[in-house]
Amino acid sequence: MKFFIDTANLEQIQEAQDLGVLDGVTTNPSLMAKEGIAGDENIKNHYKAICEIVDGDVSAEVIAIDFEGMIAEGKVLADLHPNIVVKVPMTKDGIKAIKYFSENGIRTNCTLVFSPGQALLAAKAGADYVSPFIGRLDDISSDGVQLIYKIVDMYNYYGFETQVLAASIRSSQHIMQCAEAGADVITAPLSAILGLLKHPLTDIGLEIFLKDYKKLNS
Ligand code: G3P
Repeated sequence: MKFFIDTANLEQIQEAQDLGVLDGVTTNPSLMAKEGIAGDENIKNHYKAICEIVDGDVSAEVIAIDFEGMIAEGKVLADLHPNIVVKVPMTKDGIKAIKYFSENGIRTNCTLVFSPGQALLAAKAGADYVSPFIGRLDDISSDGVQLIYKIVDMYNYYGFETQVLAASIRSSQHIMQCAEAGADVITAPLSAILGLLKHPLTDIGLEIFLKDYKKLNS
């Protein structure tokens, strides 16, 4: 199972990279805006900076919503670095663009996926990754993790090679639920990744070990 970090914040990306378990990064226009990254050149330079920190796939999202615009933008993004994966929204033009990119050697991540039917279309079009947003489904009283189970089962049944990238993860528990569901990748905020470290018995056990050591070694 791969771990991606879902942020455009370079410090957090570096911190996750330093932990030694990071396999990639996902960004989106909202995450870029949160870091104050604006303007074509700044955005491109920011993606390059991310690629210099992490040796793994980095999703960069197109802004265009029409087919021609997505193709033009996706080509520019893909040219920035070999690790760039072009993130394309789940729309009619998006599916056409994913098909075009898959036939032209450009890797894609189909984003804003909320149903098995959308995931089926993304796989048929040749997406390298599909991004079901589990937190946003939970937000509307639906069951995000169940969607991961359904997509994983469907892809396994038909042998699709598209990787299930569980996105919109809000907690460490979400990460573990996606692991149980068989997601190929999770993308999560740093806080959710670091939350996996925590257990009170680990802290108590460590304290006892150190106390016992000091009894004979001080
Ligand atoms: O990877 C998609 C993610 O950034 C969306 O997360 O928390 O805005 O639903 P969220």
